[in-house]
Amino acid sequence: MKIGIIGAGNIGGNLTRRLTALGHEVSVANSRGPQTLTALAEETGAKPVTASEAAKGAQVVVVTVPLKAVPDLPAGFLDGAAEGVTVIDTGNYYPQRDGRIAAIEDGLPESRWTEQQIGHPVIKAFNGTYAQDILDRGRPQGTPDRQALPVAGDDPAAKQAVRDLIDELGFDTVDGGGLDDSWRQQPGTPVYGNRGDADAITKGLAEASPERTAEFRA
Ligand SMILES: NC(=O)c1ccc[n+]([C@@H]2O[C@H](COP(=O)([O-])OP(=O)(O)OC[C@H]3O[C@@H](n4cnc5c(N)ncnc54)[C@H](OP(=O)(O)O)[C@@H]3O)[C@@H](O)[C@H]2O)c1
Repeated sequence: MKIGIIGAGNIGGNLTRRLTALGHEVSVANSRGPQTLTALAEETGAKPVTASEAAKGAQVVVVTVPLKAVPDLPAGFLDGAAEGVTVIDTGNYYPQRDGRIAAIEDGLPESRWTEQQIGHPVIKAFNGTYAQDILDRGRPQGTPDRQALPVAGDDPAAKQAVRDLIDELGFDTVDGGGLDDSWRQQPGTPVYGNRGDADAITKGLAEASPERTAEFRA
């Protein structure tokens, strides 16, 4: 599959490593330009590109930049993507890093905010997954206690595409509901950073509270 990854840090870098290893055709971008991505490109075979180019022809685009950088993404960066492109948002709101975002403080789920910024529906996934786990903790389907990731979003086909991709990466998934339910996997919830299996993640999602913990409020 043709996959564009915008953000080449902890999460974007490791997704680039694993997805290229699985045979996907990956383009990867950061804020400083493709000339700063030669080491990652040589290591993985991914194509280093600008953020404007990353989505070109892609069936899946991963937006994995700090939340505060989302409004800086180039206007129309999804315009050249494949028809029906699925956009994955890995983001979390850390006011200490991102500054105060009033709409989120007032209760808008952070991925709904991201969706509004980029003008395209998103599927929230990987946001509570340690970056290193993407490299280290993938296991074949059926492995007992296989780690599970929650996935939230409104478009059933896009959500299924993301769940299939995560399965390829070696993890089970749990349906986290629509994007309006995605607060159930935001920072501070029981599933955030939870390495449990599908039963544990299902239980954690059910036990979540929409109240943002003090640590994750401005
Ligand atoms: N770290 C984790 O374990 C983890 C786990 C789950 C979710 N997350 C969430 O996932 C998101 C990314 O986290 P991270 O830890 O991977 O971040 P990170 O290591 O700080 O990397 C951020 C990446 O985004 C790029 N970037 C910033 N602004 C950009 C722009 N305007 N256009 C294109 N690229 C841009 C940066 O490029 P430059 O370096 O060139 O500026 C960098 O490659 C965050 O919202 C984070 O909360 C992180």
